Amino acid sequence: MSIKRFESLTATNFLMKKLCLGSMLCILFFVTSCSSDNDDDMDGLPATAVSYEATIKLIIDNNCLSCHVDPPLNGASMPLISLENVREAVMNRDLIGRVSSGSMPPVGDFLTAAQIQALKDWKSGGFQD
Ligand code: HEC
Repeated sequence: MSIKRFESLTATNFLMKKLCLGSMLCILFFVTSCSSDNDDDMDGLPATAVSYEATIKLIIDNNCLSCHVDPPLNGASMPLISLENVREAVMNRDLIGRVSSGSMPPVGDFLTAAQIQALKDWKSGGFQD
């Protein structure tokens, strides 16, 4: 009987150790994933939630759609009529660079600093819809 009891104690002990190790790993994982989230915010911007529907669409519609429609007019290279169009142009066509330098729009007013910042925040926020 005493041996049996000893065995079951050891088994419990073993289980406890496994559980401990398991939760340690969990905690470690949690801490690591948290800190890597923080790394994404290293540019120092607050976690602003600029969305396409609420902010970006309006900026583009009011300033770019005299040319960037589908099919594009006046020699413009691509449409900017959907989230996917604008996202693609930010990623591959230097949209933010073009509005920052003032080369787009080629006619009419430049985008304001706040509008350009909104585009940057939308990009860094992962192109929310
Ligand atoms: C008056 C017409 C017109 C308006 C308005 C206009 N664009 Fe353009 N856009 C063009 C033309 C023409 C080109 C192609 C020539 C060039 O690259 O400069 C172009 C090119 C671009 C390009 C580069 C595409 C590439 O393939 O490299 C980007 C990015 C762009 N426009 C963004 C914008 C944004 C953003 C707006 C609004 C803020 C805007 N444009 C407003 C006519 C326009």
